[in-house]
Amino acid sequence: MRRKLAAGNWKMNGMQASLAELARLAQAHRDSAVEILICPPATLLQAATAYAPLTVGAQDCHMNASGAHTGDLSAAQIRDAGGRAVIVGHSERRADHHESSQMVRAKARAAQAEGLTAIVCMGESAAQREAQNTLDIIGGQLAGSIPDTATGENLVVAYEPIWAIGTGRVPTLAQIGEVHDFIRARLERRFGAGVGRSVRILYGGSVKPDNAAGIFTVSNVDGALVGGASLTAAAFSPIISALDAV
Ligand code: PGA
Repeated sequence: MRRKLAAGNWKMNGMQASLAELARLAQAHRDSAVEILICPPATLLQAATAYAPLTVGAQDCHMNASGAHTGDLSAAQIRDAGGRAVIVGHSERRADHHESSQMVRAKARAAQAEGLTAIVCMGESAAQREAQNTLDIIGGQLAGSIPDTATGENLVVAYEPIWAIGTGRVPTLAQIGEVHDFIRARLERRFGAGVGRSVRILYGGSVKPDNAAGIFTVSNVDGALVGGASLTAAAFSPIISALDAV
């Protein structure tokens, strides 16, 4: 009942020439059962909407609908450019832009109010995992970052251990499963079984063609949020195919 989702986060990468990668992906996966979402930089957002069946999202949005916020994008502007989703609360934004869970929750609510799917990211640091605080941290981020307006359509949760992002290090499958099962149980407890079971939970952090298939066998892993390996069709395509094969 949950459609698998392969989401690519291009971060601050990608030029006009990179759109050729989207043409390749769209061609290779035109009959995919998996939803394929690309979150390019804002400069490419509108152009990226030309590659159905790929859908397009942004990497952040402001919590306000409009106004004097130099450099920011509103959820309505993302929607207006053809975006269908937005990543909020990525660890790079929590760290680089001092975004609290309270701010992430306001951004997610703003996105949902505009009809966008909010992909709410959370994850523990290496020190927090070593101190065996992972589930406490995730529990706190879930409670703090997710608005009460969540439904299976307007919310995706991405579990991204900070120490796994861009490092080539990945948790064991048991560690991924423990956190995903925990997130599922918390969503069901807060929103009820109907909504709690319909929200998709993505794993992110060094997902690559050679580890994707294993990760996708883990319970409550409904797809991946992929950074570096989403930048080229050559790397992202086998990850999408692995998800399609689950
Ligand atoms: P990575 O990034 O796949 O390059 O580790 C994942 C992310 O930050 O979403």
